[in-house]
Amino acid sequence: MNHLVAPSILAADFANLQRDIELINNSEADLIHVDVMDGMFVPNISLGLPVVKAVYKHAKKPLDVHLMIVQPERYLKDFKEAGAASITVHYEACPNLHRTVQVIKELGCKACVAINPHTTVALLEDIILDLDMVLIMSVNPGFGGQKFIDNTYKKLADIKALKRRYNPELLIEVDGGVDETNIAKLIDAGANVFVAGNAVFASADPSATIASLKHPGIL
Ligand code: DX5
Ligand code: ZN
Repeated sequence: MNHLVAPSILAADFANLQRDIELINNSEADLIHVDVMDGMFVPNISLGLPVVKAVYKHAKKPLDVHLMIVQPERYLKDFKEAGAASITVHYEACPNLHRTVQVIKELGCKACVAINPHTTVALLEDIILDLDMVLIMSVNPGFGGQKFIDNTYKKLADIKALKRRYNPELLIEVDGGVDETNIAKLIDAGANVFVAGNAVFASADPSATIASLKHPGIL
């Protein structure tokens, strides 16, 4: 399949959010990545339900909601109602992960589980069949603009093997430090959904950057 590009609004201008959502609407982006941080699971607070609702009102692309919060099961229905098309919860935040994943699917959202850089891919073996997508964090979650961690390539090889064995339809998303210099190699490594915050919004021409992430090697 062709890979998907998901600009992260964490790097957008929050005082001009409608403008930046429209920029994404009019670009070749496939999804809008929304980072929710609670200051507990990660050492940063980003945005919550009212902002997701406001984004949804203007968005013409599906919202890919990444919950970096403790006990995410408390808010799944709220995020669905706020407009989430897919909901990502962290393996590290969910003691009852199987139940949490079932609830996400019962709500009608795509279910995704994220793992932090230190969490081994093998821990996903008994849940992978239930998932639409796995998110391999390629930075420590909490902040945009961090340096890509190279061990991600090893983790992509591991998740690719699990995907082949258990769930060939699985989407593999990479989040953190993705840009025009590494996306081609990440595609080769088996990833097919790419979050990009700073690479897009700190660039001189965000739409052109989205296009070049969508067509690496052409521009
Ligand atoms: C980090 C977030 C990312 C962040 C990526 O915790 O999950 O989605 O927005 O930003 P960049 O692309 O700048 O690394
Ligand atoms: Zn994210």
